[in-house]
Amino acid sequence: MVEFRFDIRPLFTQPIVKVTSNLLPHTFRGDRRQCLDATSKMSEIIDRLGQLSANAQKLNTPVTTAQRLRMSENQTIYLLADINQGNNGAVIGLLKVGTKDLYLFDETGQTRKVENTPCILDFYIHESRQRAGLGKDLFETMLADEKWTPIKCSVDRPSEKLLGFLKKHYSLVRTIPQANNFVLYEGFFDDGSSSA
Ligand code: ACO
Repeated sequence: MVEFRFDIRPLFTQPIVKVTSNLLPHTFRGDRRQCLDATSKMSEIIDRLGQLSANAQKLNTPVTTAQRLRMSENQTIYLLADINQGNNGAVIGLLKVGTKDLYLFDETGQTRKVENTPCILDFYIHESRQRAGLGKDLFETMLADEKWTPIKCSVDRPSEKLLGFLKKHYSLVRTIPQANNFVLYEGFFDDGSSSA
Protein backbone atom coordinates (compact mmCIF):
# COMPACT_ATOMS: atom_id res chain seq x y z
CA MET A 1 0.00 0.00 0.00
CA VAL A 2 1.17 3.48 -0.78
CA GLU A 3 1.19 5.97 2.07
CA PHE A 4 2.00 9.66 1.90
CA ARG A 5 3.35 12.27 4.32
CA PHE A 6 -0.07 13.99 4.12
CA ASP A 7 -3.59 12.84 4.92
CA ILE A 8 -5.18 11.58 1.70
CA ARG A 9 -8.69 11.36 3.17
CA PRO A 10 -9.87 14.87 2.16
CA LEU A 11 -9.04 13.88 -1.45
CA PHE A 12 -10.81 10.53 -1.18
CA THR A 13 -14.30 11.27 0.06
CA GLN A 14 -15.16 7.96 -1.64
CA PRO A 15 -12.92 4.91 -2.25
CA ILE A 16 -12.59 5.51 -6.00
CA VAL A 17 -12.08 8.99 -7.41
CA LYS A 18 -11.67 10.13 -10.98
CA VAL A 19 -9.02 12.66 -12.02
CA THR A 20 -8.65 14.46 -15.35
CA SER A 21 -6.36 17.23 -16.63
CA ASN A 22 -7.24 19.66 -13.83
CA LEU A 23 -5.57 17.17 -11.43
CA LEU A 24 -8.46 17.38 -8.97
CA PRO A 25 -10.65 14.54 -7.73
CA HIS A 26 -14.04 14.75 -9.46
CA THR A 27 -15.65 15.11 -6.03
CA PHE A 28 -13.49 18.11 -5.07
CA ARG A 29 -15.08 21.31 -3.78
CA GLY A 30 -12.95 24.11 -2.39
CA ASP A 31 -11.56 27.60 -2.76
CA ARG A 32 -8.46 28.59 -4.73
CA ARG A 33 -6.00 27.87 -1.94
CA GLN A 34 -7.51 24.44 -1.28
CA CYS A 35 -7.46 23.80 -5.01
CA LEU A 36 -3.72 24.47 -5.25
CA ASP A 37 -3.05 22.25 -2.26
CA ALA A 38 -5.19 19.43 -3.68
CA THR A 39 -3.58 19.54 -7.15
CA SER A 40 -0.12 19.43 -5.63
CA LYS A 41 -1.01 16.41 -3.47
CA MET A 42 -2.83 14.69 -6.32
CA SER A 43 0.24 15.19 -8.55
CA GLU A 44 2.40 13.49 -5.95
CA ILE A 45 -0.05 10.57 -5.70
CA ILE A 46 -0.25 10.12 -9.48
CA ASP A 47 3.53 10.34 -9.94
CA ARG A 48 4.17 7.78 -7.20
CA LEU A 49 1.56 5.30 -8.42
CA GLY A 50 2.69 5.81 -12.03
CA GLN A 51 6.26 5.01 -11.02
CA LEU A 52 5.19 1.88 -9.13
CA SER A 53 3.20 0.74 -12.14
CA ALA A 54 6.22 1.27 -14.37
CA ASN A 55 8.40 -0.70 -11.94
CA ALA A 56 5.88 -3.56 -11.90
CA GLN A 57 5.89 -3.64 -15.70
CA LYS A 58 9.67 -3.13 -15.94
CA LEU A 59 9.24 0.03 -18.01
CA ASN A 60 12.01 2.62 -18.09
CA THR A 61 9.59 5.53 -18.31
CA PRO A 62 6.24 5.71 -16.53
CA VAL A 63 3.15 5.71 -18.74
CA THR A 64 1.39 7.79 -16.11
CA THR A 65 2.62 11.09 -14.68
CA ALA A 66 0.76 14.14 -13.41
CA GLN A 67 2.42 16.24 -16.09
CA ARG A 68 1.17 13.96 -18.86
CA LEU A 69 -2.34 13.98 -17.45
CA ARG A 70 -2.28 17.77 -17.22
CA MET A 71 -1.41 18.00 -20.93
CA SER A 72 -3.98 15.42 -22.02
CA GLU A 73 -7.37 16.20 -23.47
CA ASN A 74 -9.19 12.93 -23.13
CA GLN A 75 -7.51 10.85 -20.47
CA THR A 76 -8.91 9.92 -17.09
CA ILE A 77 -7.25 8.28 -14.11
CA TYR A 78 -9.31 6.30 -11.63
CA LEU A 79 -7.61 5.98 -8.24
CA LEU A 80 -8.53 3.50 -5.53
CA ALA A 81 -7.75 4.21 -1.86
CA ASP A 82 -8.18 2.58 1.52
CA ILE A 83 -8.91 5.47 3.86
CA ASN A 84 -8.80 3.22 6.92
CA GLN A 85 -5.14 2.29 6.42
CA GLY A 86 -2.78 3.90 8.97
CA ASN A 87 -3.24 7.49 10.07
CA ASN A 88 -3.33 9.08 6.64
CA GLY A 89 -5.03 6.42 4.52
CA ALA A 90 -3.29 4.69 1.60
CA VAL A 91 -3.65 4.61 -2.15
CA ILE A 92 -3.97 1.10 -3.57
CA GLY A 93 -4.27 1.36 -7.31
CA LEU A 94 -4.58 3.29 -10.52
CA LEU A 95 -6.33 2.80 -13.85
CA LYS A 96 -5.67 5.22 -16.69
CA VAL A 97 -7.95 5.20 -19.72
CA GLY A 98 -8.50 7.44 -22.71
CA THR A 99 -9.68 7.56 -26.28
CA LYS A 100 -7.52 7.60 -29.38
CA ASP A 101 -7.94 7.60 -33.12
CA LEU A 102 -6.26 4.37 -34.23
CA TYR A 103 -5.59 2.57 -37.47
CA LEU A 104 -6.45 -1.05 -36.74
CA PHE A 105 -6.70 -4.36 -38.56
CA ASP A 106 -10.11 -6.02 -38.47
CA GLU A 107 -10.69 -9.80 -38.44
CA THR A 108 -10.22 -9.98 -42.21
CA GLY A 109 -6.92 -8.08 -42.12
CA GLN A 110 -8.35 -4.85 -43.56
CA THR A 111 -7.16 -1.56 -42.13
CA ARG A 112 -9.76 0.61 -40.46
CA LYS A 113 -9.51 4.01 -38.90
CA VAL A 114 -11.42 3.89 -35.63
CA GLU A 115 -12.05 7.25 -34.02
CA ASN A 116 -12.35 7.70 -30.27
CA THR A 117 -11.33 4.12 -29.57
CA PRO A 118 -11.61 3.33 -25.85
CA CYS A 119 -8.10 2.50 -24.62
CA ILE A 120 -6.81 0.93 -21.44
CA LEU A 121 -3.51 2.74 -20.95
CA ASP A 122 -2.18 1.88 -17.50
CA PHE A 123 -3.41 -0.33 -14.68
CA TYR A 124 -1.83 -1.08 -11.35
CA ILE A 125 -2.87 -2.54 -8.00
CA HIS A 126 -0.27 -2.52 -5.23
CA GLU A 127 1.53 -5.85 -4.86
CA SER A 128 0.21 -6.31 -1.30
CA ARG A 129 -3.39 -6.19 -2.53
CA GLN A 130 -3.30 -7.99 -5.89
CA ARG A 131 -5.56 -10.97 -6.61
CA ALA A 132 -8.20 -9.82 -4.11
CA GLY A 133 -10.72 -8.53 -6.64
CA LEU A 134 -9.76 -4.87 -6.21
CA GLY A 135 -8.62 -4.55 -9.83
CA LYS A 136 -12.02 -5.85 -10.89
CA ASP A 137 -13.76 -3.26 -8.68
CA LEU A 138 -11.71 -0.46 -10.20
CA PHE A 139 -12.21 -1.73 -13.75
CA GLU A 140 -15.98 -2.14 -13.27
CA THR A 141 -16.28 1.39 -11.89
CA MET A 142 -14.44 2.68 -14.95
CA LEU A 143 -16.62 0.68 -17.38
CA ALA A 144 -19.83 1.96 -15.78
CA ASP A 145 -18.59 5.53 -15.68
CA GLU A 146 -17.25 5.59 -19.25
CA LYS A 147 -20.19 3.48 -20.49
CA TRP A 148 -17.75 1.08 -22.14
CA THR A 149 -17.90 -2.68 -22.60
CA PRO A 150 -14.69 -4.73 -22.23
CA ILE A 151 -14.82 -6.14 -25.76
CA LYS A 152 -14.78 -2.61 -27.23
CA CYS A 153 -11.62 -1.66 -25.33
CA SER A 154 -8.20 -1.68 -26.92
CA VAL A 155 -5.37 -2.41 -24.51
CA ASP A 156 -1.97 -0.73 -24.80
CA ARG A 157 0.85 -3.29 -24.35
CA PRO A 158 -0.96 -5.52 -21.85
CA SER A 159 1.17 -7.43 -19.36
CA GLU A 160 0.70 -11.16 -18.76
CA LYS A 161 -1.17 -10.30 -15.56
CA LEU A 162 -3.57 -8.02 -17.40
CA LEU A 163 -4.14 -10.64 -20.12
CA GLY A 164 -4.95 -13.10 -17.32
CA PHE A 165 -7.25 -10.56 -15.67
CA LEU A 166 -9.22 -9.95 -18.89
CA LYS A 167 -9.50 -13.67 -19.51
CA LYS A 168 -10.66 -14.46 -15.99
CA HIS A 169 -13.22 -11.68 -15.55
CA TYR A 170 -14.42 -11.04 -19.11
CA SER A 171 -13.59 -14.27 -20.97
CA LEU A 172 -11.46 -12.26 -23.40
CA VAL A 173 -9.04 -14.63 -25.08
CA ARG A 174 -9.02 -14.47 -28.86
CA THR A 175 -7.15 -11.44 -30.13
CA ILE A 176 -7.11 -9.74 -33.54
CA PRO A 177 -3.45 -9.29 -34.59
CA GLN A 178 -2.34 -5.65 -34.91
CA ALA A 179 0.71 -3.88 -36.27
CA ASN A 180 0.87 -1.50 -33.29
CA ASN A 181 1.12 -2.20 -29.54
CA PHE A 182 -2.60 -2.37 -28.98
CA VAL A 183 -4.38 -5.63 -28.31
CA LEU A 184 -7.96 -6.05 -29.54
CA TYR A 185 -10.27 -8.95 -28.92
CA GLU A 186 -12.54 -10.70 -31.38
CA GLY A 187 -15.87 -8.90 -31.35
CA PHE A 188 -14.27 -5.45 -31.25
CA PHE A 189 -15.54 -4.59 -34.74
CA ASP A 190 -19.03 -6.08 -34.34
CA ASP A 191 -22.08 -3.78 -34.45
CA GLY A 192 -20.68 -1.52 -37.15
CA SER A 193 -17.86 0.52 -35.64
CA SER A 194 -16.70 3.35 -37.93
CA SER A 195 -14.37 2.57 -40.80
CA ALA A 196 -12.51 4.48 -43.48
N1 ACO B 1 0.11 -13.35 -11.65
C1 ACO B 1 -0.69 -13.74 -12.66
N2 ACO B 1 -1.94 -13.24 -12.86
C2 ACO B 1 -2.37 -12.29 -12.02
C3 ACO B 1 -1.58 -11.82 -10.95
C4 ACO B 1 -0.28 -12.39 -10.78
N3 ACO B 1 0.53 -12.02 -9.79
N4 ACO B 1 -2.26 -10.88 -10.30
C5 ACO B 1 -3.47 -10.76 -10.93
N5 ACO B 1 -3.53 -11.62 -11.98
C6 ACO B 1 -4.69 -11.80 -12.88
C7 ACO B 1 -5.15 -13.26 -12.75
O1 ACO B 1 -5.94 -13.58 -13.88
C8 ACO B 1 -6.03 -13.20 -11.51
O2 ACO B 1 -6.92 -14.29 -11.39
P1 ACO B 1 -6.44 -15.60 -10.53
O3 ACO B 1 -5.97 -15.08 -9.22
O4 ACO B 1 -7.67 -16.43 -10.45
O5 ACO B 1 -5.33 -16.23 -11.33
C9 ACO B 1 -6.78 -11.93 -11.72
O6 ACO B 1 -5.84 -11.03 -12.36
C10 ACO B 1 -7.23 -11.34 -10.39
O7 ACO B 1 -8.16 -10.31 -10.60
P2 ACO B 1 -8.22 -9.09 -9.57
O8 ACO B 1 -7.94 -9.57 -8.17
O9 ACO B 1 -9.50 -8.36 -9.80
O10 ACO B 1 -7.02 -8.22 -10.14
P3 ACO B 1 -5.88 -7.40 -9.37
O11 ACO B 1 -6.48 -6.62 -8.23
O12 ACO B 1 -4.73 -8.29 -9.05
O13 ACO B 1 -5.43 -6.34 -10.51
C11 ACO B 1 -3.70 -6.03 -12.19
C12 ACO B 1 -4.99 -6.80 -11.77
C13 ACO B 1 -4.00 -4.54 -12.25
C14 ACO B 1 -3.25 -6.54 -13.56
C15 ACO B 1 -2.61 -6.29 -11.11
O14 ACO B 1 -2.32 -7.66 -11.07
C16 ACO B 1 -1.32 -5.53 -11.32
O15 ACO B 1 -1.20 -4.38 -10.92
N6 ACO B 1 -0.29 -6.14 -11.93
C17 ACO B 1 1.03 -5.54 -12.08
C18 ACO B 1 1.01 -4.38 -13.06
C19 ACO B 1 0.48 -4.78 -14.41
O16 ACO B 1 0.88 -5.78 -14.99
N7 ACO B 1 -0.44 -3.93 -14.93
C20 ACO B 1 -1.00 -4.04 -16.27
C21 ACO B 1 -0.05 -3.40 -17.22
S1 ACO B 1 -0.57 -3.32 -18.92
C22 ACO B 1 -1.59 -1.98 -19.04
O17 ACO B 1 -1.84 -1.33 -18.06
C23 ACO B 1 -2.24 -1.59 -20.33
